[in-house]
Amino acid sequence: MEAHPYATAPADSPSLESLPVQPLLTSEFDVDPGAVYQRLRRQYGPVAPVALMGVPAWLVLDYREVLEVLRNESLWRRDIRYWRARAEGRLPYDWPLLAGYEVRQTMFMDEDEHRAARASLHSALGPFQEARSPQGWELRATVASFADELVGMLAAESGAAGFADLGAQYTRPLLLMVTTKLFGCPVELGDELVMDLWRMLDGGPDAGPATGRALAAMTRLVAHRRARPGDDLTSYMLLADPGMSDEQLGRELFMNAVYLNDITGNMVMNTLLEVLRGNATVRRSLSAGQLGETINRAALVNPPVANMCFRFAARDVRLGNFWVRAGDVVSPSAAAAHQDLLAIGSSPMVGSTVSTRAHLGWGAGPHGCPSAARELGGMIVTTAVGRVFDHFSKAELTLPPDQLPWRSGPVVRGLKVLPVRYELSGRVRPPGPGPREHTAPTDNGRGADSQAKGLLAALRRLMFGAK
Ligand code: HEM
Repeated sequence: MEAHPYATAPADSPSLESLPVQPLLTSEFDVDPGAVYQRLRRQYGPVAPVALMGVPAWLVLDYREVLEVLRNESLWRRDIRYWRARAEGRLPYDWPLLAGYEVRQTMFMDEDEHRAARASLHSALGPFQEARSPQGWELRATVASFADELVGMLAAESGAAGFADLGAQYTRPLLLMVTTKLFGCPVELGDELVMDLWRMLDGGPDAGPATGRALAAMTRLVAHRRARPGDDLTSYMLLADPGMSDEQLGRELFMNAVYLNDITGNMVMNTLLEVLRGNATVRRSLSAGQLGETINRAALVNPPVANMCFRFAARDVRLGNFWVRAGDVVSPSAAAAHQDLLAIGSSPMVGSTVSTRAHLGWGAGPHGCPSAARELGGMIVTTAVGRVFDHFSKAELTLPPDQLPWRSGPVVRGLKVLPVRYELSGRVRPPGPGPREHTAPTDNGRGADSQAKGLLAALRRLMFGAK
């Protein structure tokens, strides 16, 4: 690592290790993270020392400081080898967050290696993002038909009017089906992957081994697609960088699967919530343009990546009221920055409201969500939310918004359930081969339909228990 001829922290300035740190992930944080951010801001200013599952880290709270950390890659590095506590062997070997950070992929690379990995993903996603290309057209149609199929299953299982959890019965299965389709998973791998991603996303005692199995499954998928290329993201990634090993591409797919499932799923749920708790006029007048604005508002109020991944200081630097030492770990909080932004926007000194497009829901700077991935994520969210309101003549929350349970981790904040009372509009078809007849055949002569049937069977087990 290069030496920097810059200022070093004054000897009398407190180091992260010397400060009394408060645990961030408390029951109060689960219920009301905004109150915790506010208290930390009052106590420490724009940057606060906190403990993440026992390990000290700087939490960056204010919009200006968060943007600075996200944008300045020469100062704020992603490569975990910059982390001093790790290099000095001070992290507990069983620290729950370490396994994820040790998976070396695009997010945790710097400079040329990082730019090359992003370029490969961008070129591989290109065909799917372009609405007029056959792959783009087919993916759009498939997302819509999967959504229709899930609403059809709901109608078949629970009737044309009743109660549903739009998380377990719609959003999560939809995203898993889209991932399986986009990645080109054959049937056997699809079922296995669905189960393990589900366990991994929900956390719990089996999450570690499930992560290992999901990584191994992605590696096997790459080997399969290297031998039998198809019209899928895995095959296009191999085309973009044929020198990549099965293991490396497996790690990339693993990370993309997390974004495609957990993060995109949370964005769908947060947007649905924004619409459901909006007034009747907002709901009636949902048009494509207004849906885009609703997504921005949901990202501002509840960014699915609440606290972004760690950055490591390349040298001693002043941030907020502290000197951050070279190798210290910093977590920029989009959720806290949005709180700060909204406070600035409502200040009488500013005199204008903040544009919802100023949100950091996609991140910012060199590690922000790649444009092709944003297009894809945006298309999925728009389609998934749009289809719900096409099919449901009535949908209302069965819990007051402030009593909805949230999953609150060091990175993600997402709804655990989204319970609604619904009435369908009457045009919903039960699941069958119809909606997906137009999809392209896959390998082994089995076709997309058999792939979807395997998935639907697995999802049925997950959603309704073995029948
Ligand atoms: C609505 C959906 C999505 C949201 C809200 C979202 C949000 C984000 C955010 C906040 C980051 C930056 C994280 C950080 O700096 O720590 C990010 C990075 C990333 N996202 Fe997305 N994302 C979405 C969908 C997707 C999809 C569908 C894919 C891929 C298929 C994807 C792939 C990536 C990748 C590869 C990165 C890492 C980029 C880098 O480190 O250079 N995202 N995303």
